[in-house]
Amino acid sequence: MDSFVITGGQKLSGSIAVSGSKNSALPILAVSLMTSERCTFKNIPTLRDIQTQVKILNTLGVETHWKGREIETRVKDTYNSTAPYELVKQMRAGVCVLGPLLAARGEATVSLPGGCVIGERPIDLHLRGMQALGAEITLEKGYVQAKAPKGGLKGTEIYLGGKFGSSVLATDNVMCAAVLAKGTTIIECAACEPEVVDLANCLIAMGAKIEGAGSPRITIHGVKKLKGATWTVIPDRIETATFLLAGAITRSPITVTGGRADHLLAVIDVMRQMGVGIQRKGHAMTVVPCARPKACEVTTLPYPAFPTDVQSQTMALMAVSEGTSILTERIYPDRFMAAAELKRMGATITASNGQAVIQGVERLGGAQVMASDLRASAALVIAGLAAEGETHISRVYHIDRGYERIEERLRKLGARIQRINDGDEAEPATAAAKA
Ligand code: EPZ
Repeated sequence: MDSFVITGGQKLSGSIAVSGSKNSALPILAVSLMTSERCTFKNIPTLRDIQTQVKILNTLGVETHWKGREIETRVKDTYNSTAPYELVKQMRAGVCVLGPLLAARGEATVSLPGGCVIGERPIDLHLRGMQALGAEITLEKGYVQAKAPKGGLKGTEIYLGGKFGSSVLATDNVMCAAVLAKGTTIIECAACEPEVVDLANCLIAMGAKIEGAGSPRITIHGVKKLKGATWTVIPDRIETATFLLAGAITRSPITVTGGRADHLLAVIDVMRQMGVGIQRKGHAMTVVPCARPKACEVTTLPYPAFPTDVQSQTMALMAVSEGTSILTERIYPDRFMAAAELKRMGATITASNGQAVIQGVERLGGAQVMASDLRASAALVIAGLAAEGETHISRVYHIDRGYERIEERLRKLGARIQRINDGDEAEPATAAAKA
C-alpha cells in the first residue's frame, strides 16, 4: 500500500491547475446509458472513482474508450441491467446509474451502497422519487430492483427533501428518470449544487427539456429519446478549495487556475473571515495569506452554503488559527475522521454530536497518521505541509479516489512530499472508500 511522506514548513509558490469535477463526471458518465448514440465526455479526471464508474458502465453494456481526459461511450448491448455489489461497494456514487437505467430500459437492479466512514448513506430519497414516477421498487439480498410500469414512467410532482435537506445524487437520479418519462415532473427541494446544474446542462445538450436546475425547484418535460452529445464537465470546486487551503495553511501566495470562483463563494467568505484573501483574475484565484489565520465558526449545509466536502480541510486550517473555532456538520454529523489524526499532530479538537471545537495551536508537529475518507485524507496532506518535521500518511488510496497525482502537483509548488510503497499489504478488498 502507498503512503505519503511530507516534510512540512516549506513555503509554496507558483500555480496549480484544477482537474475536472469528480462529482460532476460520475453522474454525467451514467447518462451514456440513456442514448443509443455515441457520447464524448471531456475534462474527466483520471481517478480511481472514475475507473470504478467506467467498470460499472461496462458491466451494463456500455463500450468506453479513454483518450487522456476524454471518454467516448456507446451502448453496445442492454442484456445486463444489474450494477454489481463488488463495484458499488467500492464507490457508493455507483447508485447514480439507477435513474438512467430505469429511464432507458424500464428496469434497474443496483446494489444498496451500504454505509461508509462518513456515515450511513441511505438512498430512501432516491427510491421515493422512482416510486413517485411509477416504478415498482423491491429490496432483495442487498439489491434494489426498480421496474417501470408497462406504459413507462409518468411525470409527477415530487418533494425530495430528507432530514438533512436536499440530496445531490437523489436529485440526479430522479432528474434522469424524469427526462424520458411521459409528461412533466417537478422536483421540489432539489439539490442546487453546480454538479446538478452540469448534469442538467449535459442532458439538455442531449435533447432533454429541463428548467430550474440550480434552484430548489426543477421542472422536467419528458421527451421520447435522447441523442448523443459532447460534454465538458466543470472544474472540481472541492479540489480548488483544497489547494486554496493548502496555500492558506502554508502562508503561500499560490495561484489555482482553471477553477470557478462563483462555485466557491461560501468557502472564499470563510477564508476571508479567517483573514485569508483570495484575489480573483478571470478563472485564476491567488491566495493572499496572513501571518496567522483567525478562528471562525462554520456550519456545513447544502449548496450554496459551506460544503461538507471542504469541512475536514478547513478544520486543518482552524487547527493552527488564533482562537477557538467551531465547525458544525449538518450533512454528515459523524464526518470528523480528520480530528483524531490531526490531534496526533498536536491539534486540540473535541468533536461530538455533529460539532467540533478547535482550539488553535501555534504549529502542528509531523506524525504518523492514517488516511480514512477522501476529504479527511486531504486535510492530513495540507496539515502535513504546514507541520514541523515529517508526516507519514498511510492508506493514501483514499486520496487517489478524488485527487489526481496530488503529490506530483504539490511538488511542482515546492512541497516536499513523496509517495512511498510501505509494504506489500494489499488494499483491503472492501476499502472503506465509498463516500
Ligand atoms: C454527494 O453525495 C457527493 N458525492 C458527496 O461527496 C457530498 O459529500 C454529498 O453529495 C453532499 O454534498 C457525489 O456527488 C458523488 P447527498 P450524495 O445525497 O449525493 C442524506 C466526496 O467527498 N440522504 O446529497 O450521496 C445523506 O445521508 C463525496 O466527494 C438521505 O437521508 O449525498 C446526507 O446526510 C462524499 N437519504 C444528506 O442526505 C437519501 O436517499 C446529503 O447527502 C440520500 C441522502
